[in-house]
Amino acid sequence: MVEGGGVTSEEGVVSMLTGKMQEALTGQLIAEMYSAYLYLSMSSYFESLNLPGFASWMRVQRLEELVHALKFFDYIVEAGGRVLLGPIDGPPTEWDGALGAFEAALAHEKKVTGLINDLVEVARAEGDSATEEFLKWYIDEQVEEEESAEEVVSKIKAAGDDLGALDAELAQRS
Ligand code: FEO
Repeated sequence: MVEGGGVTSEEGVVSMLTGKMQEALTGQLIAEMYSAYLYLSMSSYFESLNLPGFASWMRVQRLEELVHALKFFDYIVEAGGRVLLGPIDGPPTEWDGALGAFEAALAHEKKVTGLINDLVEVARAEGDSATEEFLKWYIDEQVEEEESAEEVVSKIKAAGDDLGALDAELAQRS
């Protein structure tokens, strides 16, 4: 540890992040990688249901999650930290139909919102205003993430058993 709470690496590089902050940010990076893995698993599930538009929507969502993960990676590196990656949990592979899968996606996004809020708490506790500022992007992004999953849940409920038109609509997401 050095003055200001940063960490000095073996190479003598001084990080702006405390050890606790770096660990928490890396944990969230891994959580975003898990999200990508989860949505790719859901994409495979939708392929098995013969709903290629839903599957495509999930593939696009997987890319968004990779962007979220890489933003954490870049931030840690730019702050002079070191990204120490760990294992990513295996995602579920089965859900209760299209509605079950999207309800699970919405529940997952709510959980991620909680994780981001927890990160903000860590940043405050560590007196790290730069990281708190960085996390504002994720707070806004989580509002959109929850909204987009919620929107599809509502549309599935409205469509009932005939998901053909909605499948074609979801295929448009790029
Ligand atoms: Fe990375 Fe879907 O939140």
